Amino acid sequence: MGPVEIKDGVYWVGALDWNVRDFHGYSTPKGTTYNAFLVMDEKIALFDTVKKPFKHDLIDSISKIIDPAKIDYLVVNHVEMDHSGAAPDIVELVRPDKIICSSMGKKALMDHYGRTDWPYHVVETGHTLDLGKRTVSFLETRMLHWPDSMMSYIPEEKLLLSSDGFGQHWATSQRFDDEVDASELFGHAAKYYANILLLFSPLVRKLIAKVTEMGLDIDMIAPDHGLIWRKDPAGIIDAYGKWSRQESGRKALVIYDTMWQATEKMAYAIAEGLKEEGMDFKLLNLKLNHRSDVMTEVLDSRALVLGSATINNGIMPTMADMLSYMKGLRPAGKVGAAFGSYGWSGEAVKLITEAMLQMDIKLVGEGVRAKYTPKREDLDRCTELGRQIARAALDLETAGSFTTSAGT
Ligand code: FEO
Repeated sequence: MGPVEIKDGVYWVGALDWNVRDFHGYSTPKGTTYNAFLVMDEKIALFDTVKKPFKHDLIDSISKIIDPAKIDYLVVNHVEMDHSGAAPDIVELVRPDKIICSSMGKKALMDHYGRTDWPYHVVETGHTLDLGKRTVSFLETRMLHWPDSMMSYIPEEKLLLSSDGFGQHWATSQRFDDEVDASELFGHAAKYYANILLLFSPLVRKLIAKVTEMGLDIDMIAPDHGLIWRKDPAGIIDAYGKWSRQESGRKALVIYDTMWQATEKMAYAIAEGLKEEGMDFKLLNLKLNHRSDVMTEVLDSRALVLGSATINNGIMPTMADMLSYMKGLRPAGKVGAAFGSYGWSGEAVKLITEAMLQMDIKLVGEGVRAKYTPKREDLDRCTELGRQIARAALDLETAGSFTTSAGT
């Protein structure tokens, strides 16, 4: 779509990907953007590139501002290929004097592209790069979310180029937060956090503390995906604080898959008990809800009730997928239980319970099983389980421990 000037002499030169629908297991129904930024100064610097198939968008945008061969420095804030895929072509075209990256970034670039001959210039937190009128200061953000990750801060512009941090997978013709609906924007940002950064929440809290300690004056945050925060950079930092503490509301999820609607009937009965005790709830059938949308709901939920019919001595494939994905993202500070119908062997509840224990979910009771179709007494047990879970969740609030035990 061509370059967009985001500050005097600072340009967005990224690419819009309207059609991507899967981002390593994360559903992206509204596409994404790969943001790159060009800073025009006595020395000209390009911050990150784009996914390889979009290299022409990047080159075309740069060419509308300047001959790409005049770029002096390529800063690689993050090596994942949605940002560095076009780097080999850009380096060939630009032949930069320096490729600036973290030490882990240098290793990752060599591992990805086998180029030991590039003019790497390794930086650490606090190192600076003089562009002339501007100075770039680097902040390593190791494991947020890759070992190589770092951010670049330009104090003269009060601009933080935040790599994946504060991003959203959302393709739009607009470039700034104040040009789009705020609730939709924060919804995409929450989904991004829940699916990319949740497991690194303790590091996010440390990063926010570090940025506060450094006293960085920020009036714009430009992430590598989605909209640029110019109206409300403090708002997204506050949201990251809340999400990283895994603060939850009076919200329970009943997440299930069902074979012949027996487990589904149990799910509805559990929901009745949750509601009776004052919990809001959502029923999420895994045949109809993508794992990454479920994780977004998990972010601010306090109770997780997971159900599956038993199949082939195990659990439904969707539940196996969900548990594997959820375990990797490490939600914290939840209570819950398992439930499910069975015909003869009935392992599902036991297997789900074991997975919940591995995730440090505080279990309420031993779960509920029902043979073939739930009878009245089975449904009553489910409703009672819902009540017990609600009370345990509300007790967490009373005890003030509904945020993750690591706290801030
Ligand atoms: Fe947007 Fe970690 O790449």
